[in-house]
Amino acid sequence: MTAAPGRPSCAAFLAVSVDGFIAREDGSVDWLNEINAAMPPGEDGGYGDFIATVDAIVMGRHTFATALTFGAWPYGTMPVHVLSRRGTTIPAALAGTVTTSGEAPATLVSRLGAAGHRRLYVDGGATVRSFLEAGLIDDLTLTTIPVILGQGIPLFGAALPEVALELGAVRELPLGLVQVRYRVRR
Ligand SMILES: NC(=O)c1ccc[n+]([C@@H]2O[C@H](COP(=O)([O-])OP(=O)(O)OC[C@H]3O[C@@H](n4cnc5c(N)ncnc54)[C@H](OP(=O)(O)O)[C@@H]3O)[C@@H](O)[C@H]2O)c1
Repeated sequence: MTAAPGRPSCAAFLAVSVDGFIAREDGSVDWLNEINAAMPPGEDGGYGDFIATVDAIVMGRHTFATALTFGAWPYGTMPVHVLSRRGTTIPAALAGTVTTSGEAPATLVSRLGAAGHRRLYVDGGATVRSFLEAGLIDDLTLTTIPVILGQGIPLFGAALPEVALELGAVRELPLGLVQVRYRVRR
């Protein structure tokens, strides 16, 4: 299903454990970093193709905090909007591309659409859930990592409304990863 006319489409692209977690309870993603490091050269699990389809990123404050721990800022000059109700500090080196917003998802998406954006990458568990609740996610790519973490930060949760999905594609990746792309049914 495509986005409503006039608003950018919104896409999520996340890695999940078999039991549905996107990070350990303390937010660490060492289990993902290990898998990424073990991937055959040139295999990025479709991330490069995906990121080439978006023109801005919306992420939650916690995901931004994780991204800041990576050696180099991973998003280049792509505009990044960090969602936070309480506000967060943006390092001076990123001030040209990263801004914070406390707007509701629909308000932010509408503003970014008016600014000319056509497709947004929405990232972070709470953030993806708030976009799903607002009926704003259009497609969702989940890469299941063959590990059961037992506990951690979940992608989904009981508070979510039912969301009907339509299968887009299924892909088996090296190291036992399975990637499924869904479109949200309207
Ligand atoms: N496995 C993966 O593919 C993957 C992908 C992304 C992230 N992660 C990991 O997942 C963890 C983060 O997930 P998370 O669920 O804890 O958090 P998150 O979505 O990254 O951040 C949550 C925070 O974002 C702000 N926020 C979210 N929705 C908002 C809204 N509608 N309006 C205003 N502010 C909003 C709030 O910040 P305030 O408290 O400031 O209001 C909230 O506390 C990190 O460890 C990250 O590394 C993993």
